[in-house]
Amino acid sequence: MRRTFLTIVALSSLFRVLAQTPEAKMKAFVANLMTKMTLEEKIGQLNLVTPGWGVPTGSVVSKGVEDNIRKGNVGGLFGIFGPDKIRQAQALAVNESRLHIPLLFGLDVIHGHKTIFPIPLGLSCSWDTALIERSARIAATEASADGLCWVYSPMVDIARDPRWGRIAEGAGEDPYLGSKIARAMVKGYQGNDLSKDNTVMACVKHFALYGAAEAGRDYNTTDMSRIRMYNEYLPPYKAAVDAGVGSVMSSFNEIDGVPATGNRWLLTNLLRDQWGFKGFVVSDYTSVNEMIAHGMGDLQAVSARALNAGLDMDMVGEGFLTTLQKSLKAGTVTLKQIDDACRRILEAKYKLGLFQDPYRYVNNARPDKEILTPENRKAAREIAARSLVLLKNDNKILPLKKAGTIVLVGPLANNHTEMLGTWAVSGDNSKSITIQEGMQNVAGNSVQITYAKGANITDDTAFAKRISPFNKPTEIDPRTPESLIQEAVDAAGKADAVVAVVGEAAEMSGESASRSDLDLPGSQRKLIEALAKTGKPLVVVLLNGRPLALPWLPEQAPAIVEAWFAGTEAGNAIADVLFGNYNPSGKLTTSFPRNVGQIPIYYNRKNTGRPYEGGNPKFKSDYLDVVNEPLYPFGYGLSYSTFVYDTVTLNQNTLHEGQSITASVMVSNKGDVAGEETVQLYIQDLVGSVTRPVKELKGFQKIYLKAGDVKKVDFTITVNDLKFYNSELKYVAEPGDFKLYIGTNSRDVKEAAFRLVK
Ligand code: BGC
Repeated sequence: MRRTFLTIVALSSLFRVLAQTPEAKMKAFVANLMTKMTLEEKIGQLNLVTPGWGVPTGSVVSKGVEDNIRKGNVGGLFGIFGPDKIRQAQALAVNESRLHIPLLFGLDVIHGHKTIFPIPLGLSCSWDTALIERSARIAATEASADGLCWVYSPMVDIARDPRWGRIAEGAGEDPYLGSKIARAMVKGYQGNDLSKDNTVMACVKHFALYGAAEAGRDYNTTDMSRIRMYNEYLPPYKAAVDAGVGSVMSSFNEIDGVPATGNRWLLTNLLRDQWGFKGFVVSDYTSVNEMIAHGMGDLQAVSARALNAGLDMDMVGEGFLTTLQKSLKAGTVTLKQIDDACRRILEAKYKLGLFQDPYRYVNNARPDKEILTPENRKAAREIAARSLVLLKNDNKILPLKKAGTIVLVGPLANNHTEMLGTWAVSGDNSKSITIQEGMQNVAGNSVQITYAKGANITDDTAFAKRISPFNKPTEIDPRTPESLIQEAVDAAGKADAVVAVVGEAAEMSGESASRSDLDLPGSQRKLIEALAKTGKPLVVVLLNGRPLALPWLPEQAPAIVEAWFAGTEAGNAIADVLFGNYNPSGKLTTSFPRNVGQIPIYYNRKNTGRPYEGGNPKFKSDYLDVVNEPLYPFGYGLSYSTFVYDTVTLNQNTLHEGQSITASVMVSNKGDVAGEETVQLYIQDLVGSVTRPVKELKGFQKIYLKAGDVKKVDFTITVNDLKFYNSELKYVAEPGDFKLYIGTNSRDVKEAAFRLVK
C-alpha cells in the first residue's frame, strides 16, 4: 500500500516537471542553483569584467580577472573573442569555480562583427527593416562563430544634435523609424530561440535619452519633460523591449537630476513596472563609479543606489563586488535585491543554453566557415549601396560613364583605415575595399583612374592623434596644403571627371567625439573649391559619421553622394552607385543643418505662436542670419530615376473608432532607369490638448518601379496611428482635424485632410 502511494507521489512529481512550461523549468533550475550559492557568489554574478585586450573606453580595466573567475566573482566577460580565448576563459569558470557557473561573453558588435556593415546611421538610411534585420542576423552568426553570446546593440538613442559624435551609432532623429529599426535589429540578433548556437542576446542601449546630451557634448546632462520623453525619445527603447530584447544597458547621462544608472524611476518604474521588461540591466562602462563624479556619494553609496534603482550588472567598476556586502550589513540594500539581480543574470545564461553546454558558442570549425565569407561580403556590399544617399545630381552627372579618365581626389579615396567607421572593434581595416579599389573593380580597364591626395583630413598633429585613439595617428602628408591642392588641380585638368572623397576620419564620430564645428576639417573645403574652379564635372563623395553643415558645398559641386562609413565593402558599394550598377535609394534619417547655430534641428518640431511662414516679418520665430529650414531635410534622397507623385486621395474623410482610412497616391517613374523609392506618410494633428508636431512619420513603403511604370501606393490609417501621450501620459487619440502628407521626403509632400470622430 505504502509502496503504491510512494510510486504515485513520485510519478505525479515527475509529471509535474514534465508538464512544466520552459519558463517554469528555467525558474526552478535557477531557484535550485541559487539555494547553493553563497552571498559572495551571488554578488559575483553581478560583476562584468574586461581583461583589457578589447577597447577600454572608461578610465579603468579589470584586474585579476582569472583569479576572480576562479573565485566565482565574475558573471560575464567582454572585450575578447575567438573560440580559443573564449574556451580558455569559460573553462576557468566551469572547471575551477565552486559552482561551475558559465560566463556570459559580450562585445560591442554594433554594425557587424568582422564583416562590417555601414555605421548604423547609414544603415538606417536604407529605410529597409528586412535588410537591417539581415545585417544583424549576419552579425549574430559571425559573433557567435567567434564565441560570443551577447552583443551591445542596438543603440537606439534618438539624436537631433549632430555635434554629438554618437549620432553615428543610432538610427537618426525619428522615433517611428527608430522603433521599427530597433525591433528589426533585436529580431536579427536574437532570432526566435536564444539557445541556438548562431543567435546572440541583444542589449538595447543607452537607456535612456543619451542622445539628448546638452550642447552635443558626450556624457553631458540631459533634461526634458516627461511628455517629450514618452512621445519622442522613449519609443525605440520600448520597441526593443516589446521585441523581447534580453538585456538593457543604462546610460551615462542623468535624467531628472539622477544618473540613469542609479535612477529607480527609469530602471524599475518605467522599464519593469510599466513596460514589463523581464531581462537584466547592465551598467555602461564604469557608469556606477561615475556617479561619484556626478556628486551622488562614495562608491558604496552609488553602488547601493544603482542596485536599489534596478541595475543588475556592474560593468568593470566593481562597485557591486566590493561594497554590496557592506551595504547589506548596513541595511541600505536588501538580500532580495541581490537575489533578483543574480536570478535575472542566471536566467539569461539559461536562455542562452549555457547551462546545458557552456561551450555552445565555442566551435573552432565555425570561424573559417562563417566569418567574412564571400556571401557575407556580398550582403555587406548590397546593404552598403542601399545606405548611400544621393544629395545632388545636376545635369545627370551621375552615373559616371565607364570610359575615359577619372581623377580620384581626397584623403579618404584610397584609405583602408577609415572605411569601417566608428565602433567596428573586431573589424579588420586591411580587409576593407577603398573607393579607388572599388571603382577599378566596377569599371575595369575601360576607365583610367588616377589618384591625387589633394588634402589631409587634418594638418594638425595633435588633432590627428585625438581622432585615431585606437590606431596609429591619422597620416599627415608633409607637403603644404597648397601643393597638395595644386597637384589635384593639375590632375583634374587632364581628366574627364573628378571624384573627390572627403569628410571626417572614422573616429571623428562615435564615443567621445563631439564637434563644435561641422565643416570639413583641414583644407578639404579649399580643395573642393579649387577643383570646382577647374570646370570639370565634379562629384563629391562624403564620408562622415554625422550630418555635416556644408551650405557652401552644393554651390561648388553639381553632384554629391553621402556615403557615411559604409564598412568592409565600402569601396565596391560606392563604385556601384557612382557607375550606376546600383541606382541610389537611401533617404536621410537626420536633417542636415546649414550651420551649427540651427542645431538642434529636426523635422518633427512644434510650431511656435509666431510661425515662420507668413506673419509679421520682424516678430517671428526665425534667425536674422540663416533661414529656418535645414540644408537637406529628413527623408530626403534622390535617385537616378525621377519619381513623380500624383495627388493624394482618401477613401473617406472621416475616421471612426474601429475603422480605417486608406490614403492612396500614384507614383510614377518618369526617368529612364528602374529605381526604388521610399514613399513616406506623415500625419499632423491640427488641434490637441497639448501642442503637437508639425508632422510625424507614420508609415513608409519601399517600391520598385521600372522606367515609365506607375504604381498605386496605399496606406491604411487607424486610430492607433493618431495616438500620443497626453499631459497625463495617457496614450490617446483625440477627435478633431488631421492633415496627412505623402511624399518623397518630409518637405516635398502632397496633402489631404480628414477628421477623427469619436
Ligand atoms: C559605451 C557603450 C559600450 C561599452 C562597452 C561604453 O563606453 O558607451 O556603448 O557598449 O563602453 O564597450
